Parts: sequence; structure tokens; C-alpha cells
Amino acid sequence: MTQTSVKAPKAVLGIDIGGSGIKGAPVNVETGELLGERVRLDTPQPSTPQAVAATVSELVKQFDWKGPLGCTFPAIVHNGVTLSAANVDKSWINAPAEQILADAVGLPVKLVNDADAAGLAEVVFGAAKGKSGKTLVLTLGTGIGSALIVDGKLITNTEFGHVIFPKDEIAEKYCSAKVKDDLDLKYKQYAARLNQYLLHLQLLLSPDRVIIGGGISKKHEKFIPELTGLRFPVEPAALKNDAGIVGAALEAAHTFGL
Ligand code: BGC
Repeated sequence: MTQTSVKAPKAVLGIDIGGSGIKGAPVNVETGELLGERVRLDTPQPSTPQAVAATVSELVKQFDWKGPLGCTFPAIVHNGVTLSAANVDKSWINAPAEQILADAVGLPVKLVNDADAAGLAEVVFGAAKGKSGKTLVLTLGTGIGSALIVDGKLITNTEFGHVIFPKDEIAEKYCSAKVKDDLDLKYKQYAARLNQYLLHLQLLLSPDRVIIGGGISKKHEKFIPELTGLRFPVEPAALKNDAGIVGAALEAAHTFGL
């Protein structure tokens, strides 16, 4: 009898570290599929590097994971060092975050900005799959994250949520999803703010397409059709909640040569 060999999927554990939750799942990095149920643990408060590392370690234990790990973080991540902390504990600024996480879990870790991870996943598997030119992915949540992908290559740490807009303030204080909630804006009012911001980004970047992610993108039909005067199509993200997990796993697979 001949034996059929079933190739094991190339798997990486993807972990999405956010201000309120830390979520993870093993990812098939060739298809972008999750290979198991997502697990979510609360982000410890205060969310110091050591406390977060302990929670990530707990998540890794729950999966009994022994391979490489890709993690997102909502800040500038340059060469494994976190350089900002807009919506997390300030002790992350200048922390050797990738090393702290790797030491805590005892496994190889690749750390990436959360929006960069989500953006990459959208271009590889999601709404901008296979598209060339300039794709700008904006994640609208507590803050605004951005990812710029040019002909499939991610230009990291663009931080377009922190451009000064409309004046004296950063854009994420004007049109993040949190601002919509805080000011109790109707979708139409919110769309008007987002429209102004997108016109500004159009002037700066002339993107070929913009993909909108973050929880609010589930309600895309309430605000994307209101946008006018843009030279590029605006589309909702396809991977929804999983984009960060999948993108982090992809980056780790790339870094560790899987
Ligand atoms: C941070 C970014 C992050 C975004 C979304 C911003 O405040 O500066 O690094 O990608 O929030 O979490």
C-alpha cells in the first residue's frame, strides 16, 4: 500500500498586542488561515513591558507553542525597539521590546507595528491581494495606524495617524473611531472628518487605493459611500479582526526564513 504524505502547514504563532486585549492564534503563513481558535487575554494594567511579556508568555503556554512568534505592537517599532507609546504605558518608549518578549517566552520573536502587520496581511491575503502600486491601509480605532505597501513591499512605521491635521493636533485626535465615540458623532459627521483627512493624504501620497481597517470597518457601508473628491477607491479591510495576527505571523516567517 502506498502512503500519501500530507505536508504539514508552515505555521507561526501570531499575536496582536493591543491596549485592552492580547490575542493570538497559529497561522498557516502560506494561506493566511488561522490553524486554531483565537485566544484573548486582557492586557495587564499598567501595560508595562514586563507585565505584557508575562501575558504573552501565558498565551504561548496555552498553545503549547515551540516555534517562532510574530507579535504586533501599537507603536513605532524600529529594529526591535519601541520608540513611541501613544495609547500604551509610556515605559515602552525606547524599550528593547522584541528582546524582552523573546526572553520571556524563550522563543524567536519578531515584533512589528500593528498597522504594518494588518496592512501586509491585507496585501498578501486580503482586500489588496496581488495589487501593485501604492496601497495605503489605515486602521481606525483608539488611534489611527497606517501601513504603506508599494508593489508588495511594506514601508514600515509611516505613522500617518500622527500628521498634524487639521491644525495644532494630530489626525488621530480628529478622526479615529474613538473620536467618533467620544464626541458621539453620527456616521455622516464622522465621514466628513475622515474625508478631509483622506484629501490631505491624497495630496501627500497619491495612493492607488486606501483600505480601511479597525473595528469600525465592519460598518463601512455607513461611511465609505459618503466619501467624495478622492482619486482612489476606498475599500474595507477583508481580514477584519485577524489581520494583525496574520500579518505578524507573515513577518516572522519572513524574518526566520520559514
Ligand atoms: C500609534 C501607531 C499605531 C496606531 C494604531 C497610533 O497611536 O502611534 O503606532 O499603529 O496608533 O494602534
